[in-house]
Formats: sequence, structure tokens, C-alpha cells
Amino acid sequence: MNMTTPTADQLAAFAHIGQEHLIRHAESLDAGARERYLAELGAFDPDELAPLIERYVRQDGSLPPPTTLEPAQVIAMDDPSREPARHTGEALIRAGKVACFTVAGGQGSRLGYDGPKGCFPTACATDKPLFQIFAEGIAGAQNRYGVTIPWYIMTSPLNHETTAAFFAQHAHFGLRPDAIRFFPQGVMPSFDKSTARMLLAEPGVLATNPDGHGGSFRALRVSGALEDMQRRGVEHLSYFQVDNPHARPVDPVFLGLHASSPNSSGQFSSKMVAKASWDEKVGVFCEADGRTQVIEYSDLPVELAKQTDDAGRLRFNAGSIAIHAISVDFIDKVSGDPDFALPFHRAVKKVPHFDPESQRHIDPAEPNAVKLERFVFDAIPMADQSIVVETDRVEEFAPVKNATGTDSIESSKRLQTERAARWLEACGVSVPRHPDGTPNAVIEISPLTAQDPEQLRETDLPTRIEPGATVVL
Ligand code: UTP
Repeated sequence: MNMTTPTADQLAAFAHIGQEHLIRHAESLDAGARERYLAELGAFDPDELAPLIERYVRQDGSLPPPTTLEPAQVIAMDDPSREPARHTGEALIRAGKVACFTVAGGQGSRLGYDGPKGCFPTACATDKPLFQIFAEGIAGAQNRYGVTIPWYIMTSPLNHETTAAFFAQHAHFGLRPDAIRFFPQGVMPSFDKSTARMLLAEPGVLATNPDGHGGSFRALRVSGALEDMQRRGVEHLSYFQVDNPHARPVDPVFLGLHASSPNSSGQFSSKMVAKASWDEKVGVFCEADGRTQVIEYSDLPVELAKQTDDAGRLRFNAGSIAIHAISVDFIDKVSGDPDFALPFHRAVKKVPHFDPESQRHIDPAEPNAVKLERFVFDAIPMADQSIVVETDRVEEFAPVKNATGTDSIESSKRLQTERAARWLEACGVSVPRHPDGTPNAVIEISPLTAQDPEQLRETDLPTRIEPGATVVL
């Protein structure tokens, strides 16, 4: 963040956009605290904030979706182009042209875990943290392809130090420290939902939130990570979120399709899974004006969301699981354009804060604040041609978003065992199952052991799993 003390004019401009409480608060601080506080405030430009406050805080801000939405074209699971693409992808990986990119700057407020989400114990039998699961996936791919795969991890100023310290504490999970690069994304002020005032986290400190995974384009450039990729000869990034332990850090088929499919410009590709139901809360890949884009579930008109084809399948069926392949050239091109800006989205969340008037700390019971975030998928329409590749839900999507219920640690652990059970069964191992079909065991397969059933087949396997057993392979 650019920390410069605001001039008197800038302070007046904050007052002019309804933020006079911030100036009053400055007067209540001692000299040292005031200087730090004003420097933090000076990182934000009131002229840039004014229209955002008007549009997203005082109003809802969302734009209506395009009127001519069609379902996006999808490369299906049985598409014959997939197998040849594997060779292209493998060649790219072996040549050192692929790096991993994990967005880990989020606050994980729904999970309620006190620490970066990547440190959260997640593996179904061993409780390995998410970062370790990905590190093992990367190490496994490095062993398989005989190459070092750089790993870029986007943090936020709120979790950067803790994240880097966690890796150092765990000896970078066996990966080369010089091949891992952490860089923080930008932040935005958090606003009170009813007064549109910028909130304070504590006396003399603004309440801020990371500016969304879409902040990665700018953060990659300003942090020097983009330049680092170019220096290393990296051409494509395998992008995944920190909260999905089933994301394959390096998938040769997907990377190969991204780089060589005739319908792909090799700039920005995505994976999809068939939606579980018409009202599942996932973004949907659509096409408008010949461009692929993700429409958020709340923006897809209900009549379209419910439409079915002749076979009774949902027409708008391509759910986004936030796994992408993005070229370094594309990131360079868009982030280097002075006019480049992804739109903001408004998120209403609970933000604990300090009220300078009553001098009290407030822990809200209900969502009280507006956060402004950019989404990475809003850059998809900027690609010349963008492909969407189907994958299997259990294979690649076991997100940890909530403490309980849907997309929680329990559901993720169940899916991890289910995937491991399927892989073992594909290798001829007998897995006990309950009458409802779920495995009667807890089974964890380290990505160092195998990243798919074919690789698992090459290892020493038991002939059967005992009912109720906990098995780590
Ligand atoms: P989510 O949209 O689930 O947000 O992030 P979150 O902040 O992690 O969690 P909640 O909503 O507060 O519960 C999806 C992915 O995008 C990353 C997250 O770290 C996660 O990998 N992300 C999100 C960022 O890197 N930066 C952000 O500003 C927001």
C-alpha cells in the first residue's frame, strides 16, 4: 500500500464524501498514532472512493446480466481431444513453463478459523493443513515430470506474515523455498452498511478487507511476481483457491487443452462441474456477445436457471469451481493497460469494529458492513477465446467454506474419503460401504503417493479395506 500522509485538501475531501468522523477521530489520537493513522488513510484516494461509495455502499451496485445469455460451450468429459492434450500439457510442465498460483488472501470469515485458511487442518485422516496438501501435490508433480514448479501464493496484508511464517516453520513442506513466492494483495476500506462510513478496526486503525481474488492481476504486477515468472520462463499459471483440497495443482490435460485447443486463445481457461441443482449457489459459465463469462448465481434469471434441454438436463449447467489456467502474457497485457479495472462487487458481511463516538468495540450479531471485492473471473471476457472444461465434482471439488453443513470441513472430509475409495476400487481394492453407499472407512491418499487412479495402481495396495478402518496411503 502506498502510505503517504494526506494533505489538508485530501482530508477535506474525505470530509466532503461523508467521512468527517475519520478526521474527528484523528484529532483524538496522540501524535505517533495520528501519524500512522493518517498515513493509512492517505493510501486511499477520496476521489476514487466517492463513486464506489455511491454505487456499491449506498446502493446495491449490481448491473443487470446481459440480455442474450446462452450456455457456454463445454469440452465434455468424453471429448476425444482430451487425451492428445495430455501430451501437450506434459511437455509444457516438463519444459518448466507452468507454475502454480494459489489465491490465499481471503479472510475465511465463514469458517471462523483464527488464522490463514491454508493453515486449517483439512486432510480427512491426518488433518494435514491445506497448504501441505497442495505442497505435496506440487512435489508429486515435480517428481513425476522431473522439474521444479514455482508456486506463487497471494496473501493479504492481514495474513501475509503468518502465512510466510507457517511455511518457514514447516520447512516449506519439503519444497525449495526459492521456488515459493508470497505476495500480498491490496485492501479496500470496509464500510458501515447503513451510514456508508468507513469503519475503524480499533482506535487509530482503519477496518480494511482484501480487495477480492480479482485483486490478483494488480498484485501480481506491483509485487514483482509477474516479472519473476517472466524471468523464470513461466508461460502458464495453474490457478486454484486455497480452500479446495481436491484442486489438482498441476493437471496436464487441462493445461494442454488451455494451450492448444482450437477454441482457446490460451489466455484464460476454466473448469466446470455439472450443477447439483438449478438453485445451487455457484457461478455459471455463459456466453454473451460471443464471449465466455461467469454469471453469479444471484444474477442468473430464475427462468434461465430452471431451463432444461430435450434430455431434461439443465441448460445452464456449467458450475464454476474457481479452477483456471491463465497465461502470463495475458496477465501482463491486461494488468499493464492503464485503463484496466475489474468491476467491484458488494459483499455484506459481519465486521467487528471500534465505534469512535461511543468508544466501544462492537461485535455485530448480524452483517453490518459492506466489503468491496473484485472477482478474477470478470477478466474471462477479456480473453480472445476462452474454453470451459468439464470435470467430475467428487474428483476436483471438496471446498471448505463453512464451519458446518454445506461446503464445510465435514462435507470436504467425506468427499476426500469418497474420492480415495473410488480410486482404490478402480484399482481392484475392495472398499466397505454403508447401505447408503458411503464408504465405511476413512481413507486418505497423499498426493505424493498418487494424483490419479492410474498412478495409484503403480503402488503397493492392500486387497481390501477393513470396515471402520482409518487408512493413510
Ligand atoms: P471466498 O470467496 O470464499 O472468500 O474466497 P474468503 O474471504 O476466503 O471467505 P469468507 O467469504 O470470508 O468466508 C475464495 C478464494 O479466494 C481467495 C480466498 O483466500 C479463497 O482461496 N480470496 C478471496 C483472496 O485471495 N482474496 C480475497 O480478497 C478474497
